[in-house]
Amino acid sequence: MADSSDRKAVVGNKQVIFMDFVSGFPKESSMYVTTGTVKLKLPQGCRGVLLKNLYLSCDTYMRILMKPHNGSSGDAFNPYAPGCPIYGFGVAKVLDSGHPDFRKGDLVWGITTWEEYSVITAPEILFKIQHTDQLCFFFIFLLIIGMAGMTAFIGFYEICSPKKGEYVYVSAALGAIGQLVGQFAKLTGCYVVGSAGSKEKVDLLKNKFGFDEAFNYKEEHDLNAALKRHFPEGIDIYFDNVGGKMLDAVLLNMRVHGRIAACGMISQYNADKPEGVSNLMNIVYKSVRMEGFTAMDHLQQYSKFLGTIIPYIKEGKIAYAEDIAEGLENGPSALLGLFHGRSIGKQIIVVARA
Ligand SMILES: NC(=O)c1ccc[n+]([C@@H]2O[C@H](COP(=O)([O-])OP(=O)(O)OC[C@H]3O[C@@H](n4cnc5c(N)ncnc54)[C@H](OP(=O)(O)O)[C@@H]3O)[C@@H](O)[C@H]2O)c1
Repeated sequence: MADSSDRKAVVGNKQVIFMDFVSGFPKESSMYVTTGTVKLKLPQGCRGVLLKNLYLSCDTYMRILMKPHNGSSGDAFNPYAPGCPIYGFGVAKVLDSGHPDFRKGDLVWGITTWEEYSVITAPEILFKIQHTDQLCFFFIFLLIIGMAGMTAFIGFYEICSPKKGEYVYVSAALGAIGQLVGQFAKLTGCYVVGSAGSKEKVDLLKNKFGFDEAFNYKEEHDLNAALKRHFPEGIDIYFDNVGGKMLDAVLLNMRVHGRIAACGMISQYNADKPEGVSNLMNIVYKSVRMEGFTAMDHLQQYSKFLGTIIPYIKEGKIAYAEDIAEGLENGPSALLGLFHGRSIGKQIIVVARA
């Protein structure tokens, strides 16, 4: 029979539950918020960790997990299971641990579930947060030091092999990854242009993030003409976050030996039938290298990334913009906002501050 201390350790656990597989744009009704219960102690013998989730990251790849595997896309992660909490990157505090690498009180970032408390049975996927002395904002771990930063770092430095003076174009430039890629490009001495979906974002790119130029892609009827206006001599590096029509227009504007980092294709995630790309022959004419990548495949470079990014942050060389939604109940709307350009910078949900 449970003793009274066991009973006391059972608390409410707000959760965001996935309804069912989605076609087209997801809606708020694709998820629902409910409150279950959780025991704030791991079962005897469990080698996992019990987390109190603090900050959750909204990411566009989460849309890919809302459809069943089709054998080609998004198969790196398991799709969401109807009736279960959705999952994604987060920052959390360890409340109980049966794993030798984690102790009560540790702060971690990595994959967690969208609920107040999560039991992670394979905590090897979590990273301990160790720079809290200098970096007091934990959401920095979601934005800069976490997966967005790793993706920007690997995509730009490893995949694009940038050189000083080159012409760089970044789409979805005020997103979590784009804003960092633009700043890495400036730190390398490149000329950088970004595109985003509103005047406010364009102004931020130029005035806060140091992009040389920026434009609102939603106001351009001819993307090829817009790119020719901003890159009269062509593009050396395209960091592609959106795919689709933008990628097609970029292909017409690449320079000889240009590089394209295929990071993501936001414009296609809600399409039941992906758009075709017609200008691929330019890759041949201009000896362009186009390479897809996932940051998860480069985790062995995480300490190299930290060695670059931590000094940049301490020296105040990296600006960032985050968009905070308070409370799990606002999570679904914040997540869906990514696909309508509502977030200004990295979209984060605060579940608890400590
Ligand atoms: N390869 C990897 O390892 C990896 C890892 C993480 C993410 N990714 C991918 O990287 C890309 C950027 O992610 P992120 O986290 O930086 O994004 P984010 O912060 O979530 O930003 C998303 C932004 O994309 C823009 N957008 C939405 N729909 C669009 C459309 N149809 N066409 C053009 N822009 C659109 C919106 O801004 P606007 O106002 O500008 O439209 C939105 O705010 C995504 O494709 C993501 O899937 C790749």
